[in-house]
Amino acid sequence: MKKGTELYSGKAKSVYLTDDPDLLILHFRDDTSAFDGKKIQKLDRKGMVNNKFNAFIMGKLAEAGIPTHFQSLLNDQDSLVLKLDMIPVECVVRNIAAGSICRRLGVEEGIDLDPPTFEFFLKDDERGDPMINEYHIQAFGWAEKEHVERMKTLTFAVNDVLTALFSAAGMLLVDFKLEFGVHNGEVYLGDEFTPDGCRVWDVETREKLDKDRFRQDLGDVVESYELVGARLGLSFDG
Ligand code: ADP
Ligand code: TMP
Ligand code: ASP
Repeated sequence: MKKGTELYSGKAKSVYLTDDPDLLILHFRDDTSAFDGKKIQKLDRKGMVNNKFNAFIMGKLAEAGIPTHFQSLLNDQDSLVLKLDMIPVECVVRNIAAGSICRRLGVEEGIDLDPPTFEFFLKDDERGDPMINEYHIQAFGWAEKEHVERMKTLTFAVNDVLTALFSAAGMLLVDFKLEFGVHNGEVYLGDEFTPDGCRVWDVETREKLDKDRFRQDLGDVVESYELVGARLGLSFDG
């Protein structure tokens, strides 16, 4: 599958058309961004690590019956995906309090959330990805009502699958963000699942193994991503 014209370039990935109108190539760059693009740095090997990490997780989700856009790994930094009409809404599930929920609600980091909480954010870097609810999504026409329900159901299903997967490897899935899109009227999981878009802690030490290492200047960012992958049984060689 050959790369055609660049369709768009985001903060960490570039998206290319292919000769099949239903398929796109996602190119995972080494760029790392945080705080809605206010902090940006290139990290060696990150594109390769995230591309392979994402392929592994998307495979696990597909096995569990989650419809995903992922088709195949093309090379170290490229993956073939189904072209989706992306819904401009980010779906976040939190199992443990961390990040923005602590700032917004003044709760302590590390508190278990029972039940896990669900939040929608508008994908809009200029406005700092504001938190929204189902009424905003419908009133502004960002997604159809049935698609909103489907996104929520699928996000909780992803949480069940991945919480178990990480737990079996000695890690806590603290929270994560998903993006969905529509193809032929059906909702599919799009974008990526990598340590860039989730929080993962070691179950014993509660050491942060995700993009908080970049946000908080803790060092060993890509090394930690690789460690998480290795613990899940993923090999980044070859
Ligand atoms: P951002 O847009 O947040 O800076 P990226 O750098 O990861 O993020 O850019 C990837 C872009 O590709 C995002 O806008 C994402 O919504 C979009 N995208 C992801 N998967 C698909 C898909 N299957 N079809 C169309 N667009 C997609
Ligand atoms: P938050 O604590 O900053 O709201 O983020 C919750 C989780 O979602 C965290 O794992 C990071 C991820 N996330 C992104 O990857 N991109 C985003 O734009 C947002 C808002 C969250
Ligand atoms: N994903 C967003 C960004 O790249 C937010 C974050 O990770 O802090 O800026």
